[in-house]
Order: sequence, then structure tokens, then C-alpha cells
Amino acid sequence: MRTTVGIIGAGPAGLLLARLLHNAGIDSVVLESRDRAYVERRQRAGILEQGTVDVLRAAGAGERMDREGLRHDGIELRFSRRRHRVDFPALTGGRSVMVYAQTEVCKDLIALQLESGGPLLFETEALAVEDAGTDRPRVRFRRGGESGEGGEGGTEEVLECDYVVGCDGFWGVARAAVPDGRTFERTYPFGWLGILADVAPSHDELVYARHDRGFALLSMRSPSVSRLYLQVPADTDAESWSDEEIWDELERRLETDDDWTLRRGPITQKSVTPMRSYVHEPMRHGRLFLAGDAAHIVPPTGAKGLNLAVGDVVTLARALVHRAATGSDELLDTYSATCLRRVWQAERFSYDMTTLLHGAPDATPFEERLQLARLDRITSSRAAETDLAEAYTGFPVG
Ligand code: APR
Ligand code: PHB
Repeated sequence: MRTTVGIIGAGPAGLLLARLLHNAGIDSVVLESRDRAYVERRQRAGILEQGTVDVLRAAGAGERMDREGLRHDGIELRFSRRRHRVDFPALTGGRSVMVYAQTEVCKDLIALQLESGGPLLFETEALAVEDAGTDRPRVRFRRGGESGEGGEGGTEEVLECDYVVGCDGFWGVARAAVPDGRTFERTYPFGWLGILADVAPSHDELVYARHDRGFALLSMRSPSVSRLYLQVPADTDAESWSDEEIWDELERRLETDDDWTLRRGPITQKSVTPMRSYVHEPMRHGRLFLAGDAAHIVPPTGAKGLNLAVGDVVTLARALVHRAATGSDELLDTYSATCLRRVWQAERFSYDMTTLLHGAPDATPFEERLQLARLDRITSSRAAETDLAEAYTGFPVG
């Protein structure tokens, strides 16, 4: 098999890259180890920055998003039983975000890719990227094999490419083919217990709550489906929490001084997400490029994961199109540095939001007071609040 751009992974990064390249007349093949149903059901944050919304629209993938997505003009910060609304358009010159689940973004992009006949192979696992430092990089892969089970089933094949892009997430194989890389990492001693519930959201915007018992987040998937999270110790088993215990704890952490109440409903999904900050530098070796979670992870507090992946592949698609049109490697050569600048801004913001709102198990009373002082500052200084609003609604790509 041969293609111009071999893409490993059909998450938001790989799927959008394939779409952008298709629109520019560049062929690609996408290899995805999981099946279609799994990819379309995997729950992740679904906050789209204004820039991400614009990119999806321009790529021809915005039709259902524009019909079903919910435009949000702010978020609420909750602490010490107080509520404070951050008004995005007023602070940023008109910017807002869109609530449209990552599962829906993936479904839309998969449908488009299959419609246009672009090769998208599910249950096809990349085993290794080879010869990335040459002008004939290759991906060794296995179709119909059992993912992760040490080589049983399927036949081994090779995809020969002009370029390979690792969009295979944090646990993928592409990163290992970038020699002499440097990694920067921080893990957190807590995770998020997330639930999906069949109940209308208890507020019309997202609520980020700091509480002495730990962080809580109220989010949503649609006008009738709520998504909520609780900070829990990192090694928590989701099944160790009963539904009633989850609702009771959410109620405590989200409590206010006014008459706000939490609506309860049947919980349809429960899982624990670990929290990690991670960056791999550089994001390129020869003709292999890393994009999205394959190169960097942010804790979900700032809702930046998907938006960063979109920024990477927009930058890469532009560079590949430039190369095809002019023969110049100029933009491919600056890809890693261009992306990393934006990545580190998102790392900074996600770290700040995480430490602003979570209780560390070993936090001293001094640190707890500082946390409250930071919240006080954001909610009483327009400059501090603008800093948060600008970062939340997104940094420019490129
Ligand atoms: N071969 C083929 N596919 C692979 C392999 C492999 N060896 N390893 C992983 N994959 C697939 C995974 O099954 C997954 O579908 O790569 C895909 C990676 O997708 P994501 O983890 O969603 O990563 P990315 O596309 O970078 O997403 C960026 O968007 O999904 C949100 O918040 C999430 O931060 C994430 C962001
Ligand atoms: C979500 O809806 O899943 C979500 C929203 C905002 C976040 C994280 C997750 O910061």
C-alpha cells in the first residue's frame, strides 16, 4: 500500500487532518486500531473554542454542529458558596465557545471521510513507524488483529508514505520513532470521576466549583443530558461510588447561598479520568510528525485537549499544502516550534485552572488561603478575569 500521508489514529486529530488534506487534494490513509463504535462513543471534553468552530465550518464539517451545538457566552466560578459569572464576549471583544461533544465531532468527520471514499481503516493497528529519517517513511500495521494482545490474528502489512503523522494519542506507537526527544511531565494525585446522566443540566452554563472537599464541575452534552465530574483520589474505582453517593457529593460541593438546586437523574455512564500534564519535544523527526495527544496531554480543567489537536493539524495541513504547491519545506521545518508555543500556553492555563480549583491532599493551610486569594483576584479584577476569558476562549493558531 502507498499513500502521500499515512495517518495513525482516528481521534479528532487524525480525522480532521484527513479531511483538511482531502479538501486540498492530497491523499491520505487513516489507520485506527479500534472499531468505529468505540471511537464514536469514547467520552471526552466537548468545549470547542471559537477558532475550532471556524476550522470545522471551513472544512465542511460544521453543519450538524451549527444545528445542535450550544453556544456558551460564559462560565460560572463557584467557591465559598458564592457564584461568579465570567462573561466571555464582554471580556474578549466578542468571543465565545461551543458545547458540542467530541463524540459528535468524530461522528461527523468519520461520516464525511467514508462518504468521500477516503481510506479509513478501523481495527487496523499500527505496529511501528520505520525509516522516519528518510524520504520513504513506512508504517508497519496489522489489519483485523487483536489490539494489544501480542501479535495474534491479522496479517502484517506495510504502508509506504511520503509523510507519516502520529495522531495516535498518548498510548500510541509513533512517538517512540522520534529519537532524542525530551519529555516534560507532571502527574496529579487526583483524577475526575465523570458521569453522564439523563437529566436536564442544572445550569445553562458550565460551573467550575472549588470546595474544601474537592473540585466539582457541572457540564452538559445536550439540553437533556448532563455531564458532571468530581475530584477523587487518582486510584479510585468508579464502581466504588454508588449513584446516590455521587449525587450527594456533587450537591455538597456545588452548594450555594441562594436557591440554586441540583437536578438528579439516572446515571448512564461512570468512569475515572487520570490527570496529567505532558509535552514531548520536538513534535517532528524527519518525515514523521506528531499531532494532538501523541505529543501533549493537558489536564481536562481548561478543556483544551481537542482544541490543541485541531491547532496542530491545521498548522500541519497548511505546511503540507505549502510543500505540495511550492516544493518548499519551510513550513514543515517550523511546524514543531509553531505548535509548541501554543501548546505551552495551553499547558500553563490548564495547570493554573487545575491548581486554582483542586484541593491537593498535602496542601497546607497557607496554600489553601492563597487559592482563595487567587479566586478573589479573578472575580474582582477585570484584568485578571480577562486573562482567564482570553485563555478559555482560545489562543490563535499559528
Ligand atoms: N494504531 C492505530 N491507531 C491507534 C494506535 C495504533 N497503534 N494507538 C492508538 N490509536 C488510536 C486510538 O484508538 C485513538 O482512536 O489513535 C486515536 C487517538 O485519538 P485520541 O486519543 O482522541 O487523540 P487525539 O486525536 O490527539 O485527540 C485529541 O481530543 O479526544 C479529545 O480530549 C481528547 O485530548 C484529546 C484530543
Ligand atoms: C465536559 O463536558 O466533559 C468537560 C467540560 C469542560 C471541561 C472538562 C470537561 O473543562
